[in-house]
Amino acid sequence: MAATDPSAPFSPLGALRELQPFQWSAGLVARGMAELRIADVLGAGPRTTDQVAEAIGAHRPSLERFLRVCELHRLIAPAGGAADSAADGVGNRTADAAAGATAGGGRRWELTPAGELLRSDVPSLRGFAIAVNAPGMTRPWELVADVVRTGRPATRTVWGVDHWEYYADRPDEARSYAETCASLSVEAAEALVASCALAGEREIVDVGGSPGTVLARLLQQEPGARGVLLDLPWAVGFARKTFEQHGLTDRVELVTGDFRHEVPAGGSLYLLKNVLCDLDDAAAAQLLANCAKAAGPGSRLLLLDWEYTDHSSHVHANDVEFMVLTGGRARTEEEYRRLLAEAGFESPRRLPLVGHERAPIALIESVRA
Ligand SMILES: C[S@@+](CC[C@H](N)C(=O)[O-])C[C@H]1O[C@@H](n2cnc3c(N)ncnc32)[C@H](O)[C@@H]1O
Repeated sequence: MAATDPSAPFSPLGALRELQPFQWSAGLVARGMAELRIADVLGAGPRTTDQVAEAIGAHRPSLERFLRVCELHRLIAPAGGAADSAADGVGNRTADAAAGATAGGGRRWELTPAGELLRSDVPSLRGFAIAVNAPGMTRPWELVADVVRTGRPATRTVWGVDHWEYYADRPDEARSYAETCASLSVEAAEALVASCALAGEREIVDVGGSPGTVLARLLQQEPGARGVLLDLPWAVGFARKTFEQHGLTDRVELVTGDFRHEVPAGGSLYLLKNVLCDLDDAAAAQLLANCAKAAGPGSRLLLLDWEYTDHSSHVHANDVEFMVLTGGRARTEEEYRRLLAEAGFESPRRLPLVGHERAPIALIESVRA
């Protein structure tokens, strides 16, 4: 925020520019655009407002107004770069842009690179844009001040169930969430196989592993290995589809269960990817103890998760998201090492995550004593 002149009279209109009070809606605009499939229509090439309205079956005057806020958030732009909106972030526009607003038949729009990320017909972040801006995540965020005051996550207060139980009754939101994990995991899985030795693994157990994207990639990498995926009932179906798509069903066992109680026994390698971040310290310790009980001596455990940093990083936004939704947290490498040691995992070794060495992500390998 820029420093203000203390001698100048306070100008609420000027201050809006600093506070950007409507920024909260940016994610909801992205979600709306994704759900309406506007990005799919414009993905085929520039279209007028009328053409978009017809393609998606929308109320044309409302769509026209909505498209202007999509433009404000740089998800679409006038086709051919005409009348760049030069928006200032809070809705003030240049005279040129305003003049173009009512061109007959509606303006022609094209996707920006950010808007491309909302398409459903190419690899994208569409599921992510929908899931993180859907009620399951946004409503608890409304109580962030309570969370900070009490130290307790807000999901149960809002919905009466925990974050994962919430998805059990909302298949559409659950699907978007699974798509989110899948799209983010493709790259992470590549990085994992480039970073870890898998040769000779007999059985890989992916704990909380839906939608199966990572385990599928590990099994492709190590054709002699079998896989076991443990997840909750609502989530396991997404993994089943992934293994069917990859022709891996005969090499995988899907286990429906609750890792707070038990983890499948007998694996040679256990994987916990982005699972501890959703657990408070007591629950994280319990899960690691369950893994230690299930794993025989000499079995390996691979932990891939968000790493808390001292410098400013997007991990701090993720960390507060965990705090609000599940009571979990991003942890430092030291904190991960301590949890592993207390559960009976030895010789922890930090591995560089190939291609993501500077990301706030920790990859730690350890061995069951
Ligand atoms: C943040 S997601 C990570 C998914 C996957 N490992 C990845 O990185 O893409 C956490 C996963 O843990 C699962 N999970 C949460 N609580 C669980 C529990 N008590 N028992 C089994 N699975 C659980 C969720 O259903 C979800 O699939």
